[in-house]
Amino acid sequence: AAEGDPAILEKKDWNQYLGDGVDARPYGHPSEFEADVVRRNVAWLTADPVSSVNFTPLHQLDGIITPNGLCFERHHAGIAEVDPAEHRLMINGLVDRELVFTMQDLMRFPRENRVYFLECAANSGMEWRGAQLNGCQFTHGMIHNVMYTGVPLKYLLEEAGLKTNAKWLLPEGADAAGMTRSVPLQKALDDCLVAFKMNGEALRPEQGYPIRLAVPGWEGNMWVKWLRRIEVGDEPWHHREETSKYTDLMANGKARRFTWEMDVKSVITNPSPQAPILHDKGFTVLTGLAWSGRGSITRVDVSLDGGRNWRPARIDGPSFDKSAHRFYYEFDWDGSPLLLQSRAIDSEGIVQPTKDALRAVRGTNSIYHNNGIQTWHVKSGGEVENVEVS
Ligand code: MTE
Ligand code: CO
Repeated sequence: AAEGDPAILEKKDWNQYLGDGVDARPYGHPSEFEADVVRRNVAWLTADPVSSVNFTPLHQLDGIITPNGLCFERHHAGIAEVDPAEHRLMINGLVDRELVFTMQDLMRFPRENRVYFLECAANSGMEWRGAQLNGCQFTHGMIHNVMYTGVPLKYLLEEAGLKTNAKWLLPEGADAAGMTRSVPLQKALDDCLVAFKMNGEALRPEQGYPIRLAVPGWEGNMWVKWLRRIEVGDEPWHHREETSKYTDLMANGKARRFTWEMDVKSVITNPSPQAPILHDKGFTVLTGLAWSGRGSITRVDVSLDGGRNWRPARIDGPSFDKSAHRFYYEFDWDGSPLLLQSRAIDSEGIVQPTKDALRAVRGTNSIYHNNGIQTWHVKSGGEVENVEVS
């Protein structure tokens, strides 16, 4: 700080006057000085905010947990304001006993706590044909990472008793979109949760209050919010969200279907277009997030020169399966332009591809499942821009 710094020399209100008492904020909010830390929408992406998406401000967060009020939202028919007293979960179809659970009934099953990322299949979808949106909030912000408390779906299915020909499930939402997706039974028995808490508190209405399905590591659209029914069947239903939407059109005109797993991916969140370098050359903290729907992240490499040279980043914080990982790379910036990239490697040994490598396999017709390496161009003044290198 400069000599005669008024931040030290002058008295502030908060030095002299009593603050609010303990009853002023029965449910707390962030500091008013954090007012720009908010979810943001890209108005031209969708025709109407009711069937739309907003984005997590990844460049303003740290650690691995996304605060509840900042978890991106994706609704096909707006936020359903469900009264839990009037909400039920039904299990029907190929079961021995069709069951209806109240919220109280669900609270009497053993529950588990697990941290998972949820990534919309369309995350980074606007970047398929080239660099477009200027900020990791918009290029990568359709992800959140939350500790869920919920009942393993397996227990509810056991209670209903599965018929021997049961192979698929159809979870359905109580919103006006009545969102449905076919989920293979094996996945439900492996690790799906009927979740009712996020980061310790009730799910937010935006995230599916009072209950949502967690389908760890798989496309966000399968995580049905406001979950009200699970039908058990012997084959997939081929509904809208797995035919017309959420399929990947290849270069030959054929579409990949049922591409459930979210592939290994990472992004540098600082510096990034919304978070330029504000200091002169010298010690610089680079940070970002990495995740994989197939397991944990074993390594993240960082390049300062557009992928010519790579150095290992430092992963810090818990490393859970199908959860976000935080990485850091501290370096001495000489003030010259940089081409920043990060490349994650998951516990299956799968390496995040370059965008060119991805396009060589997938073509450019896709929207979903873009896990290509992101490049940020840091200019000598510290501003940052979304670019591509080849
Ligand atoms: N569930 C219902 N009932 N209705 C929806 O519109 N959107 C899906 C999924 N579950 C949706 C839904 C999509 S496309 C995604 S990416 C995730 O919810 C988004 O979850 P979030 O709003 O908690 O971020
Ligand atoms: Co989605």
